Amino acid sequence: MSAPPLATGAGEACGKVILLGEHSVVYGRPALAAGLPRGARARATWAPAGETSSLHVSPWDVTVRPGDERSLAQAFGTLLAAAGVEKAVRVEAEVELPGGSGLGSSAALGVAVLRAIDALGGVSRDEASQLELSLAWERVFHGNPSGVDNAMAIAGGLAWYVRGEPIVRVRARRAIPLVVGDSGESCSTKITVADVARQHEKNRERMEKQFDAIAAIVRNGRLAVEAGDLKALGQLFDMNQSLLAGMLISTRTLEEMIGTARAAGALGAKLTGGGGGGCMIAVCEDRESAERVREAIAEQNGKRAFVAMIGEAG
Ligand code: PMV
Repeated sequence: MSAPPLATGAGEACGKVILLGEHSVVYGRPALAAGLPRGARARATWAPAGETSSLHVSPWDVTVRPGDERSLAQAFGTLLAAAGVEKAVRVEAEVELPGGSGLGSSAALGVAVLRAIDALGGVSRDEASQLELSLAWERVFHGNPSGVDNAMAIAGGLAWYVRGEPIVRVRARRAIPLVVGDSGESCSTKITVADVARQHEKNRERMEKQFDAIAAIVRNGRLAVEAGDLKALGQLFDMNQSLLAGMLISTRTLEEMIGTARAAGALGAKLTGGGGGGCMIAVCEDRESAERVREAIAEQNGKRAFVAMIGEAG
């Protein structure tokens, strides 16, 4: 407790892309991830007497209260209990990311809500505590999250993440022009994580080797980013994608978008996040080439895409 309670508390958090290492990160291997400029924001006020706590999320236009059946209500109730909130609060939140798309929207929302209720109560919490509490929220949606989404929602920037360890900041020698394309197919990370777990149970030795291969790709990816070698990073995207496709978590639409990106001049492309739908990413030589890839995805696949300059100073 560090400040007097306020009448309104505000909080925000960012979404993320996993550049390399999704799924294997659940099994203790490293991932390279980056915060996105867009994410979630929340505003908390004390609820009028007699009212129970509530969370309204736009643009989904959903309102939940602890005790309701929806996962969002369970996550909100879990977070309020974990944060030790004793009085009823009213939270208005806004998510700027497509939900269920592999961009960490649920983690960004959880962290933004936590920050808003902490600010309202005059509570200041370090990043480790924010991670622990927001993970309680995330478990409701994802079952067995590695924590990478939450760590990135809290810290932003470009980082190396290993489950259970604090993030390590990575400095990009050159900004990474990234195209993020949304397949529009909603993905459930809980389902794809469970699919991979079944494959791991059935054939542990083979899957461990695949995870080790991805870990080597991630290590080389970090070196490529630090050296500003976007061409090498592109090749590593492609290698990571073929291993993810071998785990049967890519989709036809994602493969088509990845093909479009490569044909339009991307240096490499892959799915990002849980897969089974959701988003793909492509790394390009410069912003102009990224814009061309974005347009190609919009024109040839009819899908929404945006360009993010990752690791840009400032
Ligand atoms: O789909 P997202 O944005 O929640 O990303 C999930 C990343 C996984 O590695 C597949 C799961 C995890 O918990 O790390």
